[in-house]
Amino acid sequence: MTARPIPEPFENLHDRILDVVGEEGVVAEAGEMARYLAEERGRFVGKAAFVVRPANTREVAEVVKLCAEAGIGIVPQGGNTSMVGGSIPFEEGDEIVLSLERLNRIRALDADNFTMTVEAGVILQEVQQAAAAADRLFPLSLGAEGSCRIGGNISTNAGGVQVLRYGNTRELVLGLEVVLPDGRIWDGLRALRKDNTGYDLKQLFIGAEGSLGIVTAAVLKLYARPREIVTAFVAVPDPAAALALLSRLRGASGESVTSFEILPRLGLEFTLRHIEGCRDPLEAAHPWYVLVELFGGREDGGLRELLEEALAEALEGSLVLDATLAETEAKRRELWRLREAMSEAQKFEGGSIKHDVSVPVSSVPAFIAEAGALVTELIPGCRPVPFGHLGDGNIHFNVSQPLPEAGGDFAPGKAAYLARWDEMNRAVHDLVVRRFHGSISAEHGIGRMKLAENERFKSAVELDLLRTVKKALDPHGIMNRGKVV
Ligand code: FAD
Ligand code: MLT
Ligand code: ZN
Repeated sequence: MTARPIPEPFENLHDRILDVVGEEGVVAEAGEMARYLAEERGRFVGKAAFVVRPANTREVAEVVKLCAEAGIGIVPQGGNTSMVGGSIPFEEGDEIVLSLERLNRIRALDADNFTMTVEAGVILQEVQQAAAAADRLFPLSLGAEGSCRIGGNISTNAGGVQVLRYGNTRELVLGLEVVLPDGRIWDGLRALRKDNTGYDLKQLFIGAEGSLGIVTAAVLKLYARPREIVTAFVAVPDPAAALALLSRLRGASGESVTSFEILPRLGLEFTLRHIEGCRDPLEAAHPWYVLVELFGGREDGGLRELLEEALAEALEGSLVLDATLAETEAKRRELWRLREAMSEAQKFEGGSIKHDVSVPVSSVPAFIAEAGALVTELIPGCRPVPFGHLGDGNIHFNVSQPLPEAGGDFAPGKAAYLARWDEMNRAVHDLVVRRFHGSISAEHGIGRMKLAENERFKSAVELDLLRTVKKALDPHGIMNRGKVV
């Protein structure tokens, strides 16, 4: 229902779009639009003339064509769970949001080809469930899987907790259907494992964060469903021990290690303090933990014994301090909850300055130590909570604000602390790139949050290439303008 006047330059466009998508396809009332205009942390809140919700690829194409003719900017949106503000329009209100949420059909599942064709708005968890129902695995898995959508996952090249074994989203996509910035439809929905017929165009759109076109459907790669899953929560003295354990397990298990996530004690304490129903699975407190999971192809295929033996050996050598294995699926879920709640728990400890960085896996211990010293020098008393995907060299180096000197409010106060965000980011990113040859965005993308930082580190040649691609595909700059490049 349109309950407020549409801003002048958009009025004509609004009516023409309404003709294409119908009443159900347009949201223009302020209250109803709110959820499309803010991300969950509330760091970015934007404005839009209105929100469009097409129901199929043809409608997306017609809407894009109308926007291209009018020169109006489009912000594509999936589940709106991303961390860098890419799905939120700017504050000027001169763009529209195009939500893919109504493109939510699973078009086909070919169990023998191990592929599935889905529309962009299907929720990740529904993709996983449909694969499981056909005795297959779609291995992309992340904390937001109940609300993020596959088009958003593709557009951010999402990582998650099983990259070590199955790769990033980029490796899980065989074909794409894309609406180009001029409204043409590129049908690249091929379900082939081999196709060497020139440039691999789909790769341009994967990880493009909506800056080159709108992904409307994809052919996804499926895998055999694991028959044996072994999960352990392991206490280790430090990240170096965690790394040594990872190397040993990878070598001993024939690459069955699927997840290898590191958590610091402080992060676990935040979770135990603030997230209902969580409890410490080990008796004593330890400085660091890893959540390790192995997938195997056969029931009782020996992975459990293998992990138990490896952990016992590591315990003798003091590489491991204690460990518990999940005996049931419920216990496994409990252990994963401790990992998945990491980010959420930090919200209750005042301001948290975030970094999503990667370094070579072997450099993670040195990075954690040096970055910790660096931020503590910058803001004495701040509390680093480095956690995440150690198996991929991807650490969420989040830093919570200092505790109050004596009771009362947090010192130095949330707003004052968060005002140091850019300064801390720059210091940590310098360390990541210049010392460890790492990346300032391992899995969350660039969006609007990391635009300036990305430009600070990319060479002139690389920036030129990026801008050339953008210009070639979106010469009038209507797709997610001001983001990514
Ligand atoms: P959105 O937030 O809606 O959009 C993301 C970007 O893609 C935007 O730039 C948007 O314009 C663009 N876009 C969306 N859909 C399309 C489309 N169909 N065509 C073109 N462009 C499009 N991320 C990880 O990588 N790994 C993690 O482990 C992880 N864990 C998370 C845990 C939690 C609790 C939360 C809240 C987030 C986490 N994320 C993680 C971040 C986020 O979930 C991912 O980036 C996810 O892939 C975003 O999907 P979405 O559907 O929400 O996309
Ligand atoms: C995760 O892995 O939990 C998310 O990507 C982390 C985050 O909130 O930064
Ligand atoms: Zn992550």
